[in-house]
Amino acid sequence: MQYQIPKGLFDILPISKEDWKTSDKWQYLESVIRDLCKNYNYEEIRTPIFEKTELFVRGVGSSSDIVSKELYTFLDKANRSMTLRPEGTASLMRTFIENNLSENRKTSKFYYMGPMFRYDRQQLGRYRQFHQFGIEVIGQKSYEIDAEIIDMLLELFKRLEIKNTKLVLNSIGDFESRENYKKALKDFIHPKFDSLSQDSKLRFEHNPLRILDSKEAIDQEIISEAPSILDFLTSDARNHFENLRNLLEKLNIKYEVNPRLVRGLDYYDDTVFEIISEKVGAQNSLGGGGRYNSLLKNLNGPDLPGVGFAIGMERVIQTMIAQQCYFPQKTGPFILIIPITQEAKNFSIVLTKELRNHKISAEIDLNSKKIQKSLQFANEINAQNALIIGDDELKMKKAQIKDLITREQKEINFDELKTFIKNKYYNLKNLKE
Ligand code: HAM
Repeated sequence: MQYQIPKGLFDILPISKEDWKTSDKWQYLESVIRDLCKNYNYEEIRTPIFEKTELFVRGVGSSSDIVSKELYTFLDKANRSMTLRPEGTASLMRTFIENNLSENRKTSKFYYMGPMFRYDRQQLGRYRQFHQFGIEVIGQKSYEIDAEIIDMLLELFKRLEIKNTKLVLNSIGDFESRENYKKALKDFIHPKFDSLSQDSKLRFEHNPLRILDSKEAIDQEIISEAPSILDFLTSDARNHFENLRNLLEKLNIKYEVNPRLVRGLDYYDDTVFEIISEKVGAQNSLGGGGRYNSLLKNLNGPDLPGVGFAIGMERVIQTMIAQQCYFPQKTGPFILIIPITQEAKNFSIVLTKELRNHKISAEIDLNSKKIQKSLQFANEINAQNALIIGDDELKMKKAQIKDLITREQKEINFDELKTFIKNKYYNLKNLKE
């Protein structure tokens, strides 16, 4: 029997038939993200992959699809219910409360990156283990910080050279706004209740706002005429949204208001947004986020507001590839040392070790039988230089170093070999920097 990866999961490999599954692409995205976070003064938090189930039920919300249908939940050996994290915000709030991070004003801007798990229907751009990069800002209620994180998200896409994205914006107001709106929405839908999809019939009682989120054609037709939540905002909520819109315009950030954007998680208040792209199959949302003013309090933490977003890293890499965005060229070792005989091998092992100790990426071909084959191997691993050492070289105490990019060849005495390689390596590094 050949073991196969479970449905909806994928491996990230050094080489893959599907470009977006190659590790160098992921490393590049991760490095751009880390630089961005440094620029915007966000600090990293790493939380565990699983948490107690009740954190997500309470945090993300029991009426969300994520909690009601998509959790990977299991009992541990002591019969406690645990769940693989479906997103990062709830875990971040848990650790913020547990570690009393509110006491330290310096650390209220956080970022995280890592795998998330949702038992989603499998299709392009939708996986059961996927990766998010997300940020959360805790303790600031002003619309200015909403604008800052939206700007940060757009700056990320700019740095990644992603084009043709659309920022979709909405406000779902505060609790009072939503209660008023829910009533109006239910009044509107009530006469058409029988035509709703099965899921939306259930949503009608528990969380009618979620009907706006439905992908079912029948629901979409009904809600296309529904009243707009923006007409139900309290004056505070309206001010927050108007101020945000004015600031985005001042910052020259283009957006489209969609009063039906409610997002699939239950913790939001006021600002919600998504970044959508034309590509990535049917799943066009590259990222999304919004404000949550009561989440920390609901999780028995301090009464502090928060705002954040997360992007789906698979979809971002897929979009970059589709749009032929820049990725750095994959480089191999700086030098491949090719010993031809056992004695040459002994000498080469020591030389390789010394180069590596000098932080020069060096590889040794321990299986070398034919020079031609070894040079082919050098090509395959993208080595930049090759050094062939046989008995003659050992006897003469000199060897040829081949630059595999310029095709230049140079004979070097053994006592100058290390200095020559080191100089060549550091010259190249300086040139690049
Ligand atoms: P979300 O919209 O559920 O928000 O997920 C954010 C992004 O994760 C989506 O826009 C999408 O790109 C990606 N994503 C979600 N599910 C999948 C999947 N099954 N396969 C591949 N990619 C997926 C959140 O998770 C919130 N925690 C965001 C947030 C942070 N709000 C405030 N702070």
